[in-house]
Amino acid sequence: MQWGAALKQAEHHPVLLEAAMEALAIRPDGLYVDGTYGRGGHSRALLGRLGPQGRLLAFDKDPQACADGRQLARADERFTIHRGSFARLTAVLEAEGLTGRVDGLLLDLGVSSPQLDDGVRGFSFMRAGPLDMRMDPEAGEPVSSWLARADRDAIIDVLRSYGDEPFAPRIADAIVREREQADIGTTQRLSAVITDCLPRRIQATARNHPATRSFQALRIFINRELDDLSELLEQSLTALAPAGRLAVIAFHSLEDRRVKRFMRDQARPAQPALPMAPRVEPAFTLVGKPVRADESEMQRNARARSAIMRVAERTRAAGVTS
Ligand SMILES: C[S@@+](CC[C@H](N)C(=O)[O-])C[C@H]1O[C@@H](n2cnc3c(N)ncnc32)[C@H](O)[C@@H]1O
Repeated sequence: MQWGAALKQAEHHPVLLEAAMEALAIRPDGLYVDGTYGRGGHSRALLGRLGPQGRLLAFDKDPQACADGRQLARADERFTIHRGSFARLTAVLEAEGLTGRVDGLLLDLGVSSPQLDDGVRGFSFMRAGPLDMRMDPEAGEPVSSWLARADRDAIIDVLRSYGDEPFAPRIADAIVREREQADIGTTQRLSAVITDCLPRRIQATARNHPATRSFQALRIFINRELDDLSELLEQSLTALAPAGRLAVIAFHSLEDRRVKRFMRDQARPAQPALPMAPRVEPAFTLVGKPVRADESEMQRNARARSAIMRVAERTRAAGVTS
């Protein structure tokens, strides 16, 4: 199978752009948060719908995304960008006296096309580069150094938990064998180690590149992607104003399951601990059905194929008991 066909320099097309703007039910004078700035596709569209009193705060862990965001901030005083995880939301809102005042919060999870396309970042098995995969190259540990020290069981656990990789033990064994000879320091080396250890029939028939699941798993793990997501979902409870909207675009089932469970649980009235205890009203109501890209967006943008957006609205009487 030829995997090189997919190797072309992709511009970053914001996924589900119109649907996300609609989901946020934007008020021109509202306060909005874009937790995943990337190259600002969603942020720019949002600013286009805000009036002079509107405000947009954005976050990104990636230094290049933040450099792009700082340029936008110089041109538009309604916009501010914070470098770091969106899980800093509560701290930033508290510092600015904006807790409970956010009218809309958008997440477009995962990595951007510029991150995947830049071999030096080490995200892609299609690009030669150091095996890094950190969204913030100045924080945490590159995948290469984690793989050099992790024990076999820990590697299996990451490949299974974050990649659903059925050959996790076989791949972990191959990594441990390989690193006894030399460190696995590049994307291509890891990709070859994974591909070579799999049964020939899998290599020949796989729909995706044999390293796809492992690369996804290692990226999610090294960037604490699911931990950040869970923290942000919890923080949305205190960040959002009554009737504020939460819209999350996920790209794989691990992310989407967390979003779905959180929204579903928060949209149910909590059972009182004691029969006479007051009822706790749900914090959210669900808005519409999960949204997917239509055929024409999928044709234009391969990334849109796996996107799914869920939307919920903070209730007016959130947490109030009756
Ligand atoms: C899919 S891209 C977003 C693209 C953006 N919506 C656009 O239209 O240009 C995801 C971005 O979110 C950033 N990111 C992912 N997880 C993050 C987190 N936990 N905290 C901050 N930024 C994160 C990545 O660095 C990447 O730049």
